[in-house]
Amino acid sequence: MTEPVESAVLDEWHVLCALNDLKPAAPRHFTLLGEVLAALRSAEDTVAAWRTADAGRGPGLPIRIHCGHVWTSLGTPSHEPFPVPEFFEADRRLVYCGSFGVNVSAPRAVENFLDMAHFPFVHTDVLGVEPHTEVKDYEVSVSGDSREVVARGCRFYQPLSALSAKAGFEVEYIYRVPHPYCAVLYKSAAPDPSRNDVIAIFARPISEETISATLFMALVDEESTDIGLSQFQQMIFSQDKPILENQRPRRLPLEPTAETSVRADRVSVAYRRWLHERGICYGTIPRAGRLSPETAAA
Ligand SMILES: [Fe+2]
Repeated sequence: MTEPVESAVLDEWHVLCALNDLKPAAPRHFTLLGEVLAALRSAEDTVAAWRTADAGRGPGLPIRIHCGHVWTSLGTPSHEPFPVPEFFEADRRLVYCGSFGVNVSAPRAVENFLDMAHFPFVHTDVLGVEPHTEVKDYEVSVSGDSREVVARGCRFYQPLSALSAKAGFEVEYIYRVPHPYCAVLYKSAAPDPSRNDVIAIFARPISEETISATLFMALVDEESTDIGLSQFQQMIFSQDKPILENQRPRRLPLEPTAETSVRADRVSVAYRRWLHERGICYGTIPRAGRLSPETAAA
């Protein structure tokens, strides 16, 4: 038996796919939180989505086109999708890297995206290299409205920080978690370190232990080809995928004592606490004294 999905998750916007991956008049099916949905893009670029079980009956699901992707909700969102202002900067390269099915919970995928300590060992000679293995101290905070976890001042030496990089350098990172199952990182752009590249992971929970991970980038890079940029990110993610799929338990434990924490894990600790305080259970192993959806909403 599966438990009912809590409103904190139902009332979120969840990604379906890049708008460009939905061809006009060619409906596609997606699974979200165990429910099968259909989505159809019209010739006028409007998108409709519905539960296939309702086919033609009942109201359609709400839709937003956000960051070039199609988002929907099975509940009633009280907010718009989280802002990514860089999406609108005219000189950025918007790179749609596609979606990957991964046998892992959405929170585990987000947590891995926030983790610098694995760079030298998983992305060897690209995002990290020995002996540069130390995660230096950084700051973590939760935004005033509690909507985001933010980690600032993260620094890591990277031999090939991006396709555009000509040499290794100490890259500065900012991480945002503006959604229980999405994260956005900002890292010094190799061609112009005064600006940041933006890389996002949008995880759609198919089930509690399976996701579709969509990768999206808004880069400062005038030289590389779209296909080269997309393939670079796909190569990075293909290194993460087996690591993600080997994690046990697949759901993210929210009990503070569940997995030992060191400084490198500071952002994970904040992320887990934030999930708990928001009453997010789907994809997690909740704390013993878990907040009921009613308490969390109060
Ligand atoms: Fe990674």
